[in-house]
Amino acid sequence: MSIRFIKEKNTFVLNTVATTYAFDILGGKYLRHIYYGKKTANFEPAPLNTVSFSPYVHELGPSFSPDSTPNEISFFGSGDFRANSLRIKGADGTGVTDFSYSSYRIFNGRRDIHGIPFARADEKTRTLEITMLDDVTGCKLMLYYTVFEKYDMISRYMVIENCGKQSVKIEKCMSLELCIDRCDLDMVTLYGRHNAECSYQRVPLHHGVQSVMSRRGASSHQYNPFMAICSQKATEERGEVYGFNLMYSGSFLNEVEVDQLNTAKVLTGLGGECFGYTLESGECFSSPEAVMTYSAYGFGKMTRNFHNYIRDTIMPKAAFEPHPVVLNTWEACKFDIDAPKLVKFAEEANKLGFDMLVMDDGWFGERHNDRAALGDWYVSDRKFPNGLKAFVDEVHSKGVKFGIWIEPEMINPDSELYRAHPEWCLRVEGREPLRSRHQLVLDMSNNEVIEYLKGIFDKTFKDIDIEYFKWDMNRHMSNVGSSALPAHRQDEVSFRYMKGVYKLLDWLAERFPNTVIETCSGGGGRYDMAMMTYGIQIWTSDKTNPYNRTFIQSAAMTAYPAMTMSCHVSNPKGDMRSLDFRYKVALGGMLGYELNILEMTEEIKLEIAKQIKEYKLIEDVMRLGDYYMLTSPVKYPYSSYYYVNGDNGRIVLSVIETAACKAGRTKLLKIRRADRDATYSDIRTGKLYSGVELQNGISVSLTGKPDTAELFIFVRQ
Ligand code: DGJ
Repeated sequence: MSIRFIKEKNTFVLNTVATTYAFDILGGKYLRHIYYGKKTANFEPAPLNTVSFSPYVHELGPSFSPDSTPNEISFFGSGDFRANSLRIKGADGTGVTDFSYSSYRIFNGRRDIHGIPFARADEKTRTLEITMLDDVTGCKLMLYYTVFEKYDMISRYMVIENCGKQSVKIEKCMSLELCIDRCDLDMVTLYGRHNAECSYQRVPLHHGVQSVMSRRGASSHQYNPFMAICSQKATEERGEVYGFNLMYSGSFLNEVEVDQLNTAKVLTGLGGECFGYTLESGECFSSPEAVMTYSAYGFGKMTRNFHNYIRDTIMPKAAFEPHPVVLNTWEACKFDIDAPKLVKFAEEANKLGFDMLVMDDGWFGERHNDRAALGDWYVSDRKFPNGLKAFVDEVHSKGVKFGIWIEPEMINPDSELYRAHPEWCLRVEGREPLRSRHQLVLDMSNNEVIEYLKGIFDKTFKDIDIEYFKWDMNRHMSNVGSSALPAHRQDEVSFRYMKGVYKLLDWLAERFPNTVIETCSGGGGRYDMAMMTYGIQIWTSDKTNPYNRTFIQSAAMTAYPAMTMSCHVSNPKGDMRSLDFRYKVALGGMLGYELNILEMTEEIKLEIAKQIKEYKLIEDVMRLGDYYMLTSPVKYPYSSYYYVNGDNGRIVLSVIETAACKAGRTKLLKIRRADRDATYSDIRTGKLYSGVELQNGISVSLTGKPDTAELFIFVRQ
């Protein structure tokens, strides 16, 4: 059984295939964390400490203080001076609560979270529900721990129900809290900016609070919600690593506090800065779901735990079909598109083996540049005089599928929609809203806005065979205020906004069941697990330069599987070597192209056709296979990694040089997953290798040039 309650010890034990998590009930009231690590039945709670200046519970004696105990959950103002999970302001105005353990329930499967994406349960998934009560506010708190046994993943979130008579306000809410009883640890996060998402940062923990957060209304390019805490010696294959993530696309907070007793307390959730929520008597609130995993075998195992979990329990079913190799019009055409030009694109795309043409931006209203028309989601009759349907039919007649770009959450002040409904954008009464990319943000917390968007998309796309939506989002939220909510609910806007976005995404998926979605936010500005429930892939970054992309993709792969990563070859400027490099980098994820196919030389076109053909032979290895990073470009002058399919029969090995070094240096790359007794052929060269040879390592000679890559495709004979 993956979840047990040991009555004699008042202890809950959660087991996955390789890990154990345990906590007990102390003094009939407090939840004390005991253990999270390698699977074991031998764990004991750490002795309680008497610590000066740490207020204690009189009945339990001076050695029990919420401040010096590894709490499962802590409450503002009730004796734990460290970062804590919950601050709820009741009628007394203090923000102090002190929930006590009341009961538990263990059940098969999981509970749905209302309005926020959550991971799917499988037949072995089990859930522990802990109920806690706060007498003064009358609030009930349910903590949910869901065990995804085979993935070594445990998720946690909470539901707060106001069973009191007066309203309360949740001012901080963290889905997960974990105390690790040491602090000689490093923290790994992914930071960045537009065009440079997922920069890898590893720093030692220090006393005090370290945090990453987004206040942008989006999970953001700047800080991804993934975080890992690891032993300082942890490598790809060795050492302890704890991985965390939050399944949410809006503002969030990940914080770690190293306290006076050298405990590292990890929290992840909505935080308190961009969040507040009033609960009237009888109302309920659910936090987003956070997940944690533990690996005793370095980062590689943590990475594969996340990959398997995200793929199997989060990604939509359509992601398990081959993803279309798209020709996207953005980098080639920007806003300069019309029906005749794109029909030629489609014709040419078909000849080269593309699956789909994606019309990216510029097709609607008066959209001739990025200054106008967001919100006016009807096709431009100047560019498409016979209408969208006739155009899409013509694209199909050329033998390729059709995809279209939308940016539902945004509005340009220069649009018909804004002229009709200026009150529909986020803004604060009496203040001029700031612009970004000439646009404002629609108030997705307002149901009227959602209904308008449903109506217009329904009308525009009705009876048109669209096979793919690219859902973009190109600015962050400032001046966050909604004309649809009263003053005391204004700090709910960002959270309600996200629920509005999820609602519209749910509607889109339901209304157009045969249309897949790629999500995007100026590249990887919402590269998060919640978005992954909707899209078969995410546009990883607007940076298509293969050198920068190598770093972005390598870091993104730490937490997210290749299936999620949309990777395009952009304009090689007629240079065959550059085309080859771009292709080999893009092959790390789901391949596509963004280039003016009408202006390519025959030689380039032939090469692209060859690339697509080769990719199609192996795309399932990247999409569904296991990923092993051999060297990180952050540490070495080259990135190297391999993907291997389930039965070890096909292996794709890439070596991408990212820094100049001495030419001729040889490197031994060990493919441990190769089948020892088999013979493999590299289908690119025909050269044969024994499985033992691959396991012992194949020798690769570096060119020393930071724009070359080598690719091996080993197929078992
Ligand atoms: C930003 C996206 O990241 C690009 O790929 C493209 O879709 C543009 N928006 C279009 O405006």
